[in-house]
Amino acid sequence: MRRSIILKRRPSGSPRGDDFEMRDDSIPTPGAGEVVTRTIWLSIDPYMRGRLSDRKSYAPPVEIGEVMTGETVGEIVASAAPGFAAGDIVVGPRGWATHNVARAEQLAKLERHGPPLSTYLGVLGMPGTTAYSGMTDIGQPKAGETVVISAASGAVGSVAGQLAKRAGARVVGIAGGPDKCLFVQEELGFDGCVDHRSTDLEAELASACPNGIDVYFENVGGRVQAAVFELLNLFSRVVMCGMVAQYNDKELAPGPNLMFAVGKRVRIQGLIVSDKPERFAEWRALARPWVADRSLRYREDVIDGLENAPDALAGILGGQNFGKLLVRVGRDPA
Ligand SMILES: NC(=O)c1ccc[n+]([C@@H]2O[C@H](COP(=O)([O-])OP(=O)(O)OC[C@H]3O[C@@H](n4cnc5c(N)ncnc54)[C@H](OP(=O)(O)O)[C@@H]3O)[C@@H](O)[C@H]2O)c1
Repeated sequence: MRRSIILKRRPSGSPRGDDFEMRDDSIPTPGAGEVVTRTIWLSIDPYMRGRLSDRKSYAPPVEIGEVMTGETVGEIVASAAPGFAAGDIVVGPRGWATHNVARAEQLAKLERHGPPLSTYLGVLGMPGTTAYSGMTDIGQPKAGETVVISAASGAVGSVAGQLAKRAGARVVGIAGGPDKCLFVQEELGFDGCVDHRSTDLEAELASACPNGIDVYFENVGGRVQAAVFELLNLFSRVVMCGMVAQYNDKELAPGPNLMFAVGKRVRIQGLIVSDKPERFAEWRALARPWVADRSLRYREDVIDGLENAPDALAGILGGQNFGKLLVRVGRDPA
């Protein structure tokens, strides 16, 4: 039996459990060039909120009645694709389901006895690659510069900040609450961290960045963005990775006044990780030894059971996750 989560209606504001419904049917058989996987890990990511809305975007929405989209790590249970066999572990774009059919060329095979399989959805997967692309192509931090990362304890932010540290920058995180700020400094090794829930965010950020800000890795938007923009230096760079604080908004928020960007020659550039697919393998090869020797730190937040995926998505959009958010759907053979 296969269990899937179907989009029942488009959420208004934060997604809710009753925007989705469970469907049970039989496990499909693969067509030529396809495999069927049993889901082990399902990734929950902020971008999924965009797929629930029919607002114009860089990617098409999930249609009502369709299985909700998501990346998974799974084990092949049936294969009609050369080079892929039952028992192989693969990562790739699939859906919120216990079993998925996939075209083999969309999947990457994983070693069963390498890094934990869940890391291929987090530090070694799409979020890690996003941080790597953003810092390599846009942020380009240099020794002695000040780099600020929002959602600093999260899947993307934690890697982005550690990459800036490796480049010799002074790195300040922004995170929600004292526990996350402590983790960002003690575990990830950032030089400072400011709690965005503080009533005096602007003053605390200014005091944490006495030389202004040279690179901002934007994950959040809203009030955090406004506080950072005040402190940007001449020739600073802004990596526009995401604005999760605004994903549930019913109306688009009015934009900031960007006049300062002219005089300060600020470079503000958006990033979509899938634009450079070659970065995924490049990042995996670079980061695997760092994960193995624990010089690249990460934290995972695991929720058990496919049925909890809708609540998990609502949670990540409200900052309830602490680290890369994953749903454990099936037994992990590793
Ligand atoms: N452009 C791309 O290709 C690409 C790819 C992947 C991810 N992204 C973006 O990267 C960002 C981070 O994604 P992630 O997967 O690493 O998620 P994450 O950081 O693990 O989780 C999201 C975090 O956002 C913060 N947040 C949520 N609501 C907030 C609010 N109202 N104000 C301030 N912070 C808030 C929360 O952290 P705190 O509790 O610390 O606030 C929450 O834990 C998202 O914007 C996502 O859309 C973009």
